[in-house]
Amino acid sequence: MTVGNNIVFIGFMGTGKSTLGAMLAKELGMEHVDLDQAIIEHEQSDIPTIFQTKGEAYFRDVEAKLLAELLTGSNLVLTTGGGAVLRAENVKHMMEHALVVALHADQDEIVRRVSLDTNRPLLAGDAAKRVATLLEQRKGAYDFAQIHIDTTGQDVNELVKEIIKKRIEYRDFRGE
Ligand code: S3P
Repeated sequence: MTVGNNIVFIGFMGTGKSTLGAMLAKELGMEHVDLDQAIIEHEQSDIPTIFQTKGEAYFRDVEAKLLAELLTGSNLVLTTGGGAVLRAENVKHMMEHALVVALHADQDEIVRRVSLDTNRPLLAGDAAKRVATLLEQRKGAYDFAQIHIDTTGQDVNELVKEIIKKRIEYRDFRGE
């Protein structure tokens, strides 16, 4: 089975998905869609408000629905929220319709990157503690990706080159 031309970025919060996804799409002449942004537009509301007024389960339902819809398209770089991998149906859609790139970063670096941001309801309160707990809970959740990249302390332009190289290697290996 060929996964077509789509690329999906997965990874924990603060691993660099949106930044690298946008850069990669530009470099490859593909369309970049950010799933969190798609949810915000669909709901006409920001993420903390959705969590607060409608709850996480509702957010996950919208996330799953939009992910499935978006992946019917092609030539797309789709960046997802860190929890989009938590539903098996989402993982199935990603595997069927895209090449999946998982971004990773060290715990300390993740905490540094997310600390100043108040837009992540799951990290409200003690962000360092929440990151540690969620990383533990989500251990292995990003393992299914075909390509894995560690973004800790790396230059973004070099990372884009690395992803393009690994994508070519993967496609050669698959004979695509
Ligand atoms: C979440 C990650 C967020 C966003 C929401 C929930 C998660 O996206 O979807 O706050 O469960 O990890 P980022 O990974 O882009 O921060």
